[in-house]
Amino acid sequence: MYCYRTMNASLVPLLTTSITDRSARGIAGGVGRLISAGQLAVGTRLPTVRELSKELGVSPTTVSEAWQTLAAVGAIDARGRQGTFVRQPTGPSSPRRYRRVTEGPGHFSLDLSTGTPDPALLPDLGPVIARVSRQSLTSSYLDQPVLPELAERVRADWPFTPEELTVVDGAMDALDRVAGVVVRLGDRVVVEHPTFPPLLDLLELLGADVIGVDLDHEGMRPDGLAAALATGASAVFLQPRAHNPTGITLTAERGAQLAAVLAASAASIVEDDHSGDIASGALVSLGQWLPERTVHIRSYSKSHGPDLRLAAVGGAGDVVSAVANRRLLGPGWSSRILQAVLVAMLDHRPTIDAVAAARDEYAARRRAVTAVLAGAGVGFTGTDGINLWMQVADERSALLTLAAQGIGAAPGEPFMVRVDEPSLRVTVGNIDNDLAGYAERLAEAAGNIPARSGQR
Ligand SMILES: Cc1ncc(COP(=O)(O)O)c(C=O)c1O
Repeated sequence: MYCYRTMNASLVPLLTTSITDRSARGIAGGVGRLISAGQLAVGTRLPTVRELSKELGVSPTTVSEAWQTLAAVGAIDARGRQGTFVRQPTGPSSPRRYRRVTEGPGHFSLDLSTGTPDPALLPDLGPVIARVSRQSLTSSYLDQPVLPELAERVRADWPFTPEELTVVDGAMDALDRVAGVVVRLGDRVVVEHPTFPPLLDLLELLGADVIGVDLDHEGMRPDGLAAALATGASAVFLQPRAHNPTGITLTAERGAQLAAVLAASAASIVEDDHSGDIASGALVSLGQWLPERTVHIRSYSKSHGPDLRLAAVGGAGDVVSAVANRRLLGPGWSSRILQAVLVAMLDHRPTIDAVAAARDEYAARRRAVTAVLAGAGVGFTGTDGINLWMQVADERSALLTLAAQGIGAAPGEPFMVRVDEPSLRVTVGNIDNDLAGYAERLAEAAGNIPARSGQR
């Protein structure tokens, strides 16, 4: 996706003619305009300070000052001996894949394109909010960003001992903030193929060179991971359970294999447990083997409610502290009122039962649909969570066939790192009646796939 371009000779005349004001400010402005106009593409290697100062007839300090100004606004990236490179321009960007998944007509009688939990299966907030409203709540800027009661509960339930722990506004916020710390322009970053479209948009925005590694029914494939790490990948993003879109959950054996592969590298590991307690599979975290390099994210959106906007981030102390410190210069902390609601929910027996009931219901819905698909010979993956990844003969015609019956599904393309078999992501967790009937319509929409395989 992203590759370095070496500096070519034609850059020098472009720069010398475009930079008319030869002060540090003028040089920064001239180069900035060339970047904004697209005349200096992302990844272009700029001349060294010495080269440019010679060409412009100014001192190296002047060029160096200009480079510092551009770096401060994120327009260029100085990477030591490798050189100085043009970065993705800052400013509004379009989350292309995210938009493609969410742009459907939205008039479906049953929308299975969303990837979101069934509102009817979320716990009732009413009684919990009533309890919390009687507590005295903090209003100080100086209190701990994470409520101590929440930190204690989260730590007790963490899959490994985290060096540091913080709380942010949901798993997507966590991915954004953690990626901002561990990914730099041009870094090779490993993700699962397919994966969550906003993660791909985010990594593209950061100028990462994304490598997709295939999954099988136990999780990311170790051979693919080893090959990706051999290219110098510096970070690995994965979902340990109820993977979106495939529904695959990492097994303990595969976790151990991946950890062994990763142990030979220095790559950072970022785990997105986006499904939390609605996943049926046991949580396997690479932090069990590599705690000092793993950042684990646990969202409460799908289990306790997306509008709580809360996720815990714990693990590698350097990364988690960097996230928490940087956040002090932004929102500071996630609402402690919402944190108190979450603590109350984690302690509230009816809420605990409601989350367990939702987990069982999602599993039952999934089983009912996949039994029909398997019987019809439709290829699908995974066993866990609300989403199903279903093979189709043709993505567009499958979507149209479903839409004609009032059913929405998500196109597979935005989830893919590279072109692959046409597929749809279907949020089967949202089918609350006539499961067999809907499953048959899904099987019909899948069409005639050569060499149909049942569970992939
Ligand atoms: C894989 C994955 N990561 C992150 C998120 C975002 O979760 P949150 O609502 O906690 O931001 C989702 C939401 O569907 C997801 O599927």
